[in-house]
Amino acid sequence: MEFSQEKIRFFAKYIEKELGIVYSDSNYFQLEHRLSDITSQLGLKSLEDLWMRATSGIDTQLKELLLDIATNNETSFFRDPSLFVGLVKSIVPELLSANPQLKELRIWSAACSNGQEPYSIAMALDEARSENPNFPNYKILATDFSERVLSRTKARTYSQLELQRGLSASRLQRYFDPGSAPNTWVLNSRIPPSNFQFQQLNLLDPWNFDHNFHIVFCRNVLIYQNVDNKIRVIDKILKVFEKDAYLALGAAESLLGISDLFEQVHFENSVFYRKKRSN
Ligand SMILES: C[S@@+](CC[C@H](N)C(=O)[O-])C[C@H]1O[C@@H](n2cnc3c(N)ncnc32)[C@H](O)[C@@H]1O
Repeated sequence: MEFSQEKIRFFAKYIEKELGIVYSDSNYFQLEHRLSDITSQLGLKSLEDLWMRATSGIDTQLKELLLDIATNNETSFFRDPSLFVGLVKSIVPELLSANPQLKELRIWSAACSNGQEPYSIAMALDEARSENPNFPNYKILATDFSERVLSRTKARTYSQLELQRGLSASRLQRYFDPGSAPNTWVLNSRIPPSNFQFQQLNLLDPWNFDHNFHIVFCRNVLIYQNVDNKIRVIDKILKVFEKDAYLALGAAESLLGISDLFEQVHFENSVFYRKKRSN
């Protein structure tokens, strides 16, 4: 028996309310398929049973499962490699020339998924620092709404397959040690755990950080949001900017129609955004 569109819409609307992720009618088939996975995970017999359970109140377990199926955790090490070149060759030097006393960069990876993004940032900065002793140290706050991906980030452990996506052999050798399970690798102490903080955070909820950031990476997450949410989040990012701070977006993202308070800074193939400077 076909699960009715109305019932799928109930789940779609819940996901949109919580995460701002919009399912159009044409994606209902995909959502139905994912709801079937939850049905079996919860040991329920049918989607009808899942709907009955959900309509009598969505508890924490069901909420986590529903929000998890709605998001795409796709990521890789050094995704959009030119951005990491721009970071160390252009952005950090710019920050340093604006503030020669800068000893420690505060960086936020705002939708860190399984951790490849914050750890790629750390490796790029560590390499630059080993070539230039004046290069500042760093602290990275890694956040995501999903506890599941955050705990993977904290574990610092990756499969061979995950490492092959973007990590060079020389970086593998320099930054990873073999893990206890076959074909796994663990990030080593060249990237010190004490340089990281982790926090579960839905970007649509209020934020309350105890400091501002020199660089914010908010990549491949707003792309799934409607324009109002994009505007709201970008507005809030500006409020947690340190003076002269920079924002990195995903390669397919831009601030066109979202905010005119930023200007682009290009370095070779990389694009960063900073608050417009008055002439
Ligand atoms: C496609 S991944 C991007 C990962 C990484 N930034 C990159 O570009 O490789 C998107 C991540 O955003 C997270 N996410 C989705 N909606 C979110 C929200 N409203 N608040 C915080 N994180 C969210 C998902 O859990 C997922 O880990």
